[in-house]
Amino acid sequence: MSGTMTTMTMTDARVLEGLNIRYECDVPLGPLTWYGVGGPAAVLAHPASYQQLSALAARCHETGMPVYVLGNGANLLVGDEGVEGVVVQLDDPAFRRITIEGSVVRVGAGFDLFKLLLATVKAGLGGLECLAGIPASVGGAIRMNAGGAFGDIGQVVERVMVCDACGQIYYRKRDDLEFGYRRTNIVARYILEAELRLWPEDPESLMKRVKEIFMYKKNSQPMGDRSAGCVFKNPKLGVGVTERISAGRLIDQAGLKGHRIGGAEVSVQHANFIVAHQGCTASDIKELVRCVQEVVVQRTGMGLECEIVTWP
Ligand code: EPU
Repeated sequence: MSGTMTTMTMTDARVLEGLNIRYECDVPLGPLTWYGVGGPAAVLAHPASYQQLSALAARCHETGMPVYVLGNGANLLVGDEGVEGVVVQLDDPAFRRITIEGSVVRVGAGFDLFKLLLATVKAGLGGLECLAGIPASVGGAIRMNAGGAFGDIGQVVERVMVCDACGQIYYRKRDDLEFGYRRTNIVARYILEAELRLWPEDPESLMKRVKEIFMYKKNSQPMGDRSAGCVFKNPKLGVGVTERISAGRLIDQAGLKGHRIGGAEVSVQHANFIVAHQGCTASDIKELVRCVQEVVVQRTGMGLECEIVTWP
């Protein structure tokens, strides 16, 4: 344990009693996210096995303790007040295993998506190049069906091992999985690991493609600034239509590039990014999000839904 124990964190930490799971109290979450803002987690738990995660899930479920699962923090905005309850971090080696057999890759939810991409390219396996430049953990990427114009991770997911809120562990297989635009039908609270089916391809041409996609993003997105990637989902062009329009283009056309509230600014490079400057708070970002939504709906009639996840 570490940090100052408030009454709330003591109460929250008690929920893990007797489970033998490593945890810390009152841990600032900002440094664990790409935005770098936000308050502390009452409890940050680091289960060291699937059994420990299942026991933690069951205990939190029985006691009604809120649980949050932290991935790479790349698409996450933590409120300035922090979060009560338990934040689970899958950073133990038990959640970061990888095996490659033929074209099938089995990988833990806590594994880094970019490292996975490099490992598969090196092994001469294609299918993940479309994820170049997307910061995520494997679990987070599957939960959001990470991707972009070049494809998404859902296309190669064969099977996912999950754990539900009660602690039951089971598989979801390809034929009952659905992956849509930034969504899946996986409702289980925890993703433990995934099996991906890739295909053999020449490592050099794969690397060339990775570099091309990376360059496209580097040229069009503020990759060097603190942000959580695109803030809003691209809205559908109309009811019953699947075609979408770039939220960034809409925000740009509404004249909001460079608009600033406190330390938060609509990126001048890509308007769907809100970048955090020195001294930025979560409240600055939230206020700017609301402002962008208001102005865009007034000027274009299009409603913007957040893609980033906000805690609590
Ligand atoms: N555009 C503007 N102004 C802007 C931004 C874009 O006019 O400020 C125009 C561009 O010039 C282009 C069009 O809008 O003609 C589309 O832009 P872009 O290729 O950047 O695609 P996007 O739809 O804005 C999506 C994803 C990105 C992903 C890119 C490339 C969403 C919300 N965004 O952006 O994903 O990197 O395609 O694949 O789906 C993310 O999800 O965090 C993310 C960054």
